[in-house]
Amino acid sequence: MSPTAAEAANATEAGARALTADGDPIKMRGDKVCVFYGDKQALFDIDLDIRERQVTALIGPSGCGKSTFLRCLNRMNDTIDICRVAGDITLDGMDIYDPSIDVVELRARVGMVFQKPNPFPKSIYENVAYGPRIHGLSRSKAELDDIVASSLQKAGLYEEVKDRLDAPGTGLSGGQQQRLCIARAIAVSPEVILMDEPCSALDPIATAKVEELIDELRENYTIVIVTHSMQQAARVSQRTAFFHLGILVEEGPTQDMFTNPRDRRTQDYITGRFG
Ligand SMILES: Nc1ncnc2c1ncn2[C@@H]1O[C@H](COP(=O)(O)OP(=O)(O)OP(=O)(O)O)[C@@H](O)[C@H]1O
Ligand SMILES: [Mg+2]
Repeated sequence: MSPTAAEAANATEAGARALTADGDPIKMRGDKVCVFYGDKQALFDIDLDIRERQVTALIGPSGCGKSTFLRCLNRMNDTIDICRVAGDITLDGMDIYDPSIDVVELRARVGMVFQKPNPFPKSIYENVAYGPRIHGLSRSKAELDDIVASSLQKAGLYEEVKDRLDAPGTGLSGGQQQRLCIARAIAVSPEVILMDEPCSALDPIATAKVEELIDELRENYTIVIVTHSMQQAARVSQRTAFFHLGILVEEGPTQDMFTNPRDRRTQDYITGRFG
């Protein structure tokens, strides 16, 4: 008996779904990723699996290549002229560097939140509505209103701004601006959210709010976060990857990494001997 279309689609999906050796679904996979800025090599043969609906923290001393690797995951490095990426990176098994890939669509699936909150010089509403509008995600004003409200809710900002959605996004506090940027990233229903030191410009209270949010978001999203704070990595992530001089030294469950690192370099870094 031949399978129905739905069965065939399911089988394809199940077949395409790669698992780690210990059985977690892999959302993104880097395979021998090398990155060059001109003649200078910044990353060397990085093999890293990003597990679905988990938070993966990238840690390591300044200049070790954390941001460079993060930018590979949604092709943000394409915007840097001298940057060249080699190796393979997949999203659900699909090669994201394939020439047929629509980069705008890719970046809707793999969103990004930057170190410095960077709201557009527009209203709070327009900041969040921008992405859904350019991707044609709503058919009416009412639908767009819903997306904006629910994105702000998911980002834990709605209650603070619901009475002033027309006020400029840049008028919010730093912590609120960062949550606005997270709402903006969420609004296009991404599958993966990349965050490059999202709390480094925030005070401890705003940081705690964003960390709480990250913990809630992992129910629905795969998250990769770069952080310089060991405490933050320990609080928010399930997996940690330690980079050093462009090499991925080790990757593993966050708890193991902090209590029982396998490599001497990791131990030195997390105990503050360098970095
Ligand atoms: N746009 C660029 N042009 C040239 N070289 C770059 C560029 N961006 C990064 N590099 C180089 O690549 C290497 C890795 O930099 P990257 O910014 O990825 O490090 P990082 O781990 O994120 O550091 P930090 O913790 O300071 O943010 C460094 O040697 C850096 O000088
Ligand atoms: Mg960086």
